[in-house]
Amino acid sequence: MSLPDAHTGHDVVVVGNGSLGSSLAVELALRGASVALVGPAKRPYAASTAAGAMLGCFGEVTTSLLAHPYGQAKFDLDLKAKDVWPGWLETLADGTGDGSDLITAKGTTVLLNTVGTGPIDTENYTAIQQALDKHGEAYESVDPADVGWLDPDPNSRPLRAMHIPGEHAVDSGRLLHRLDATARRLGVSFLDHRAVSVVRDGDRARGVILDDGTVVRGSTVVLAGGVGSQELVDSVDRLGDCIPRLVAGYGVSAVVTTQDGTQPDAVIRTPNRAFACGLHVVPRGTARVYIGATNIINPRPLADPVMRDLLFLLECSHRQIRRDLWSSSVVGVQVGNRPVSLDGFPLLGETPLSGLWMMTGTYRDGLFLSPLLAREFAARLHGETPELDLDLFVPERRPLQGASREETIRTTVEHMLATGYEHHWNIPTDWQELLGPDLETIYRDWAGRIDPDFTPPPELLASSRLHPGMTEWIRSYYDSCRSRFGAPTPPVVRVGDEVRRATERLSQARVWTPGPDALALAAHALELSPEAAETLDLDAEIAPEEATRLRALVDRRADRVPLEYLTGRATLFGLALEVGQGVFVPRVHSEAMVTDALARTAPGALHAVDLCTGSGAIALAVGALRPGSTVTGVDLSDTALDYAVRNAAKLSGRVDSRVAFIAGDITGPGLLASMDGSVDLVTANPPYVPDSLRIPPEWAVHQPAEAIYSGWDGLDLIRSVARVSARLLTEGGVLAVEHYDAVTDEVLAILTAAGFEAVISHRDHDGFQRYVTALRGPRG
Ligand SMILES: Cc1cc2nc3c(=O)[nH]c(=O)nc-3n(C[C@H](O)[C@H](O)[C@H](O)COP(=O)(O)OP(=O)(O)OC[C@H]3O[C@@H](n4cnc5c(N)ncnc54)[C@H](O)[C@@H]3O)c2cc1C
Ligand SMILES: C[S@@+](CC[C@H](N)C(=O)[O-])C[C@H]1O[C@@H](n2cnc3c(N)ncnc32)[C@H](O)[C@@H]1O
Repeated sequence: MSLPDAHTGHDVVVVGNGSLGSSLAVELALRGASVALVGPAKRPYAASTAAGAMLGCFGEVTTSLLAHPYGQAKFDLDLKAKDVWPGWLETLADGTGDGSDLITAKGTTVLLNTVGTGPIDTENYTAIQQALDKHGEAYESVDPADVGWLDPDPNSRPLRAMHIPGEHAVDSGRLLHRLDATARRLGVSFLDHRAVSVVRDGDRARGVILDDGTVVRGSTVVLAGGVGSQELVDSVDRLGDCIPRLVAGYGVSAVVTTQDGTQPDAVIRTPNRAFACGLHVVPRGTARVYIGATNIINPRPLADPVMRDLLFLLECSHRQIRRDLWSSSVVGVQVGNRPVSLDGFPLLGETPLSGLWMMTGTYRDGLFLSPLLAREFAARLHGETPELDLDLFVPERRPLQGASREETIRTTVEHMLATGYEHHWNIPTDWQELLGPDLETIYRDWAGRIDPDFTPPPELLASSRLHPGMTEWIRSYYDSCRSRFGAPTPPVVRVGDEVRRATERLSQARVWTPGPDALALAAHALELSPEAAETLDLDAEIAPEEATRLRALVDRRADRVPLEYLTGRATLFGLALEVGQGVFVPRVHSEAMVTDALARTAPGALHAVDLCTGSGAIALAVGALRPGSTVTGVDLSDTALDYAVRNAAKLSGRVDSRVAFIAGDITGPGLLASMDGSVDLVTANPPYVPDSLRIPPEWAVHQPAEAIYSGWDGLDLIRSVARVSARLLTEGGVLAVEHYDAVTDEVLAILTAAGFEAVISHRDHDGFQRYVTALRGPRG
């Protein structure tokens, strides 16, 4: 079929008349190139027309952006873009000034308010501050009460604020007008059409076909049509197999006139939020403000606002920024579709089809980047030496994924939960702990169903669950990449990454000491001694099987299985004791009890009994601290006694005493009757928790109930200890017994009534009255 050749001989055909395409047309025309700029004059679906047009470099920083090299490379572009704007505004000046009339906001004030979540809002706020510090960019922390124009609902009041004087905003509508005018003045040909396919001549692009069937020829074609560029990529057979497809970051913004006729001087915004840019209010002239913006990933662009998104946006603005907006008039609602690639990074450079370039995928800050990218592309197409290194973002590529699958899953879940908080969901506070791990399981499973190796960025992982077509695009891109470039080399995972993940998981599960526990489990998973936990090399690589082992351990610890059950080891006085399911884990405050008890005995070898001995920890400690002693440990649990016997055998080199264990019930009659009146020291850490007391799962669920509970007041076994020890001890012999702190007076009374004297209550490391020492009084 022969097509009418209406437009011939352009040096460059630019497809797309948003901020990127239009800026490129201007830069090319400035270099004397003949340029055709193709795009419907009304700019349907354009992101640029809906943009707040914040020139935000630092205000856009997030923790995940700077955590990985690809994000860092993107940030480096932003840093450079910042410097290009003053000159660019001059280029766009219309003869009446220096172009600064396009600026609508002087500076940006970033707020951290009570809406959202710590892992996203607070951490992104901190990341902004750190980036400002690192790059020496001026900013000032300000009292939120002093931020002009701000008047939020008390429930959304800001906690912190900072002002960045160098980050302005322009009026996107006026910017596009000015770009049009400048391009027209420079002789750019405007084609008020949609391009529907690329004209290919052998292995080279030669132009495009418009929606009316005419052909526009050009030596080079640049696809700068935002998300609409995808149609052109699809028009060339197999071209897009390994180019991450573009989907729409559909967003809604509004312009309102304020009822009181005021507007702020600066942009007022939050940090970037759950799956979206932050909430921002941008002055747009007298008594007008722009309010932005939502972001929902959609397979295809949308033209009209979804009620949900518009309502949410307006609600956020008057509650979080200024109450008076409630009675302002909405004079415009814009819908824009950010160009989002399947790996979340821009597509910048020549495609495998020679002469066909892509300049899109800029997602959230393409307007800000537009002069920099336009200058760079124009220079490259004009044969000048490139200024930027854009190799990373070349369109045909393996997916750029800085974050590991697990990090991506965690971020996805954080953003999902944060979305709920931004919508003020009112759930029981402990549900977050239930929902978080469940959602992680769901997204882990979903990521595995998409691909074994590659993982899409968080917002695509989440939205692909809702759009089967998008999932197919992702899968087919990954499959093509695998056959073209081979399977990806798994990212190097370091011990520190896993320890950080473990710490977060454990703190979510409300484990008391998440950091030390994570380190201890890491040492165990690496088959190192527990002592090595404190000196772990966090930069060392961790093997996949070690990481898997660690994660399994962390999962169990998150279920509140005692740490010592997982490592199989506890210590008392430095004695390494084997512990596990079915035996009580010795506690450190027993050391204080043993020390105080021994201090009350005469020096030298002892004849000692340890009632309720469990793993034998206290009996063995007494034996170790008083060499030559004879110590008998008693317990009614066979499991506990097995551990005690094994511990005695293992510690025989360190315990220079005769330590034996016997099965016995201290509540029964005649226990150790042959020792009556001959024992120097009785120690006991009996069960002492009142039956109805709520205690953490480490004890309530995982350790044997008979080691924990002791009647309604926690005193049942202590009464038996008093009776048995009064019988066994010599006159002046020492008893030391642990107890529940709230019944100290009762314990003192029980011991006094049983014939003990010099009964002293002692506090443990945490300051609780935890044990009593006493001397056997004279036998009446
Ligand atoms: C609500 C919202 C707020 C934003 N806020 C900011 C911000 O504050 N700062 C910032 O830097 N960025 C912001 N962005 C992002 C920014 O708008 C985009 O990254 C950037 O504008 C993309 O510009 P573009 O020229 O590539 O695409 P677009 O602006 O989408 O323009 C593409 C143009 O190409 C046309 N087109 C599409 N297909 C074809 C075709 N086949 N043939 C011919 N023409 C075609 C379209 O009609 C459109 O006019 C925001 C985006 C949204 C949606
Ligand atoms: C709190 S644990 C203390 C274990 C050990 N003394 C320690 O501190 O690690 C209490 C122990 O008492 C044991 N026990 C419970 N009732 C008992 C009874 N009636 N007679 C003997 N031992 C009992 C349990 O089996 C458990 O091992």
